[in-house]
Amino acid sequence: MKIRVLGAGAGGGFPQWNCNCDNCGRYRRGEFNGKARTQSSIAVSSDGRNWLLFNTSPDIRAQLEAFPAIQPKTGIRDTGIKAVLLIDSQIDHTTGMLMLREGKPLEVYCTEMVKQDLSSGFPLFTMLKDYCTVNHHPIACDETPFEIPSIDDIRIYAHALKSKAPPYSPHRHDPHDGDNIGVIVEQISTGKKLYYSPGLGEIEPHVFKAMQTVDCLMVDGTFWTDDEMVVRGISQKRAREIGHLPQSGPGGMIEVLNGVPKTRKILIHINNTNPILDEDSPERKTLDASGIEVAYDGLEIDL
Ligand code: MLT
Ligand code: MN
Ligand code: ZN
Repeated sequence: MKIRVLGAGAGGGFPQWNCNCDNCGRYRRGEFNGKARTQSSIAVSSDGRNWLLFNTSPDIRAQLEAFPAIQPKTGIRDTGIKAVLLIDSQIDHTTGMLMLREGKPLEVYCTEMVKQDLSSGFPLFTMLKDYCTVNHHPIACDETPFEIPSIDDIRIYAHALKSKAPPYSPHRHDPHDGDNIGVIVEQISTGKKLYYSPGLGEIEPHVFKAMQTVDCLMVDGTFWTDDEMVVRGISQKRAREIGHLPQSGPGGMIEVLNGVPKTRKILIHINNTNPILDEDSPERKTLDASGIEVAYDGLEIDL
């Protein structure tokens, strides 16, 4: 199974257009040892030609231009993108659908809750009807395995996560199963598995269990501390409040990942305020010591 990180940043990317935090400021001044990152999305394929996109970022145009394997190969209009799977309805994960409007019908796999958001608060499904048609394929959140036509040899299991519906969602403060999902992506012929959950607020037993069964984890790397945006004077919102488990401290993501010994561990969806973006930071050294990687745009994994 081939996995390509199209974008590894959280909403806003890194550096963020209006942000002058320590990371963004130093990056612009050339005083930062670390990479810029576009907003989070990955692509998965078993044959290197037919790709399933997980999320569609507002940065999708640049992400596709940087990735020859997914570009047109035959015919006057062509793409390696065969389907899109949305893990939630957040702006940074869905806006790229607007950029795909020149395509054929878009085959979109998402939960009923995500479809509702994208037909109401952010009516992408409704808008795209007049451009390319969106064929919605519902996803259940009970780990019932399913396959996707044209994406050979790949099987997917989805489960509900405790995270958050987006701020625009009519049910932002009324959580439902399916607002956010985690997915296990399995290559059928090899049995190799990836677990992908860029928005993960709480490690429930079913999540921890799934984590133990995979060969590679790509999980929420948004914030280092719960009060990261508060102490920088950026926002009053705390990480856990907006559905992201911070990495450091008791019960944090590092502690969780330390409990999953035999797996490749990668953080993705890194917010621009997170000190782990700085490759010389003590926080990054702490991750290194635990064998935890930080995803970057263009990272490719062969599982
Ligand atoms: C989030 O995951 O909380 C988002 O990155 C927020 C956003 O897109 O603004
Ligand atoms: Mn996000
Ligand atoms: Zn910043």
